[in-house]
Amino acid sequence: MLPINQIYCLDYKDFLSQIDENTIDLAVIDPPYNLKVAEWDSFGSLNDFLGFTFDWIDRLLPKLKPTASLYIFNTPFNCAYILQYLVGKGLLFRNWITWDKRDGFSASKKKYNNAQETILFFTKSHSYTFNTEAIRVPYDSQERIKHAIKKGILKNGKRWFPNPNGKLCTDVWHIASERHKQKQNGKTIKMPHATPKPMEMIQRIIRASSNENDLILDCFVGLGTTAVASYLLKRNFICADKNHEYVHYAQEYLSKTMQLCPMNSELTF
Ligand SMILES: C[S@@+](CC[C@H](N)C(=O)[O-])C[C@H]1O[C@@H](n2cnc3c(N)ncnc32)[C@H](O)[C@@H]1O
Repeated sequence: MLPINQIYCLDYKDFLSQIDENTIDLAVIDPPYNLKVAEWDSFGSLNDFLGFTFDWIDRLLPKLKPTASLYIFNTPFNCAYILQYLVGKGLLFRNWITWDKRDGFSASKKKYNNAQETILFFTKSHSYTFNTEAIRVPYDSQERIKHAIKKGILKNGKRWFPNPNGKLCTDVWHIASERHKQKQNGKTIKMPHATPKPMEMIQRIIRASSNENDLILDCFVGLGTTAVASYLLKRNFICADKNHEYVHYAQEYLSKTMQLCPMNSELTF
């Protein structure tokens, strides 16, 4: 087994072959989408892409503990195939999460503009971690909630009082993409990676589906979001990416974070 709490520069095949079976509590997997946003995201055909996707899934599944959770990012179209594949492998479907990116992939004139991605949430068995209280989100109507905190709202003959930590998190996530957040005067700026995921989103997944000291795996870690989020939330991690530049950036990001928060104190982004 490779030492944990490291980011490796390895292809997923070499990386996963060095991970022991039944060791991973949570896998956060943000793989290529076949949208041709970079060389690593370009496949000759849908079949080539699906062959690649099913291969990393086959290599990953034995590494997950029976109590593990698996999150996979992709387009809704690709997720339709991935979902079917995972169900065929005996994994248990939990959610089809729609990520409303507050941004678009492209400005299409011949169909509705794409503004969402999908995050599939599966578990290996019925026994798994889900910390629903750790991921409450603000209520929509603050005015109504202000009133309800004082007097409650009558529901089915009982007085309901809002939870001070917000409402339960739904399967639609409104989180601005990094590309959108980094825009300057409305213009997209060049980032070190085409598709880094928002820290807030990865932290939500980690809070919900793992506990402190659990081991989290990401074999397509890019700029290191999963590794840094795991560190900040006091989880162990083991991550890789095949691109040297991204791994260099990710390792720097992680060591800067460790210097800034040496106590591993929890920060949110
Ligand atoms: C969607 S990006 C991940 C972005 C990441 N979640 C982040 O927040 O920065 C997919 C990553 O997969 C990596 N990748 C593509 N093919 C790979 C392979 N065969 N083995 C390992 N990494 C690969 C790319 O270098 C890219 O960084």
